[in-house]
Amino acid sequence: MIYLDNAATSWPKPPGVAEAMTHFLEAVGANPGRAAHRQAVESGRMVYGAREAVCELFHAPDPLRLAFTKNVTEALNLALRGLLRPGDHVITSSMEHNSMMRPLRALEGGGVQVTVVACTPQGVLDPAGVEAAIRPNTRLVALNHASNVVGTLLPVAEVGAICRVHDLLLLVDAAQTGGAYPLDVQADQIDLLGFTGHKSLGGPTGTGGLIVGERVDETELEPLIRGGTGSRSEHEVQPEFLPDMLESGTPNVVGLAGLQAGVRWVLDRGVSKIRAHEVALTRALIDGLRTIPGVTVYGTLQPEQQTATVAFNIAGMSPSEAGLRLDDDHGILCRVGLHCSPAAHKTIGTFPAGTVRFGLGAFNTDQEVQVGVDAVRRLAREMP
Ligand code: ALA
Repeated sequence: MIYLDNAATSWPKPPGVAEAMTHFLEAVGANPGRAAHRQAVESGRMVYGAREAVCELFHAPDPLRLAFTKNVTEALNLALRGLLRPGDHVITSSMEHNSMMRPLRALEGGGVQVTVVACTPQGVLDPAGVEAAIRPNTRLVALNHASNVVGTLLPVAEVGAICRVHDLLLLVDAAQTGGAYPLDVQADQIDLLGFTGHKSLGGPTGTGGLIVGERVDETELEPLIRGGTGSRSEHEVQPEFLPDMLESGTPNVVGLAGLQAGVRWVLDRGVSKIRAHEVALTRALIDGLRTIPGVTVYGTLQPEQQTATVAFNIAGMSPSEAGLRLDDDHGILCRVGLHCSPAAHKTIGTFPAGTVRFGLGAFNTDQEVQVGVDAVRRLAREMP
């Protein structure tokens, strides 16, 4: 069995992740910030350690300006629904996942103006297109850092510079890049960074978060939910300080123990080393697929301009048929269809059938890539 579905969730997890979760369950167990006994203090320390690890990875200066969420979708909803009010204008791209598009379309129904800047059929966004879309009431630019369909990287640092000139906030969805591509919220001038824990950060599902930069006035950030925070318990109203104001209810401590271990593994290995490995694998995959008659590969076809996610189709075979055959006949696990990103598939010209997608990760090998290419070659040969 060869796992090529890392863009959906990474597998296997780095060494130490399962152990950290088991250790937490067996030896700590307590609710963080809800009591002063030793196990609760230990639990609170672990959660703070997870904040520090994530902030170190993204070069965020203040661990207390990181709110943990259950996934990146919740983080993006928190930023979009928390900040945008009727009459505000927001700019996004045509390569977004539904985690961005659906909350934006719902906000549009409530009076928020939304501009979708068209990307090229390779998924490339021209920063000048973003600048040209700015209006007097623009409040936010909201972009993914890389497409979950074709992996194309969006120019977030260039857009960050434009946002500073025009005094706008920049929200970046790092679901596909966090832990796999260097990201620095200060150097890239990112005001809000949504991340997921279960992809290239190596953590378990159920973990993610939103980093809230200093330019964001948190008192204007409306929480999605309110409730107990373990702080200011004498008040019946929500605290107005980070991260508590955005973290109501008992957190996913077991998941955060795993997330911390995953991020520490990424930091120890080094993002640049992981990136170099994934660029080499991506090059081998694209080059191999492109030699197969009848196979179309989408995106820029430049490994340096994308993540290790490669979308393709086999002429005459639907993506769902190809996915089933890859699993049943060749033991290759991948994801097919629209990948929750109809806008991106419309942009690259593969809507409504979608594509086959191979999502490579830090633990894939050259040999696995070659087996994947050979399997696609065999399927393509069967086509008339
Ligand atoms: N958004 C994830 C994917 O691209 C689940 O597969």
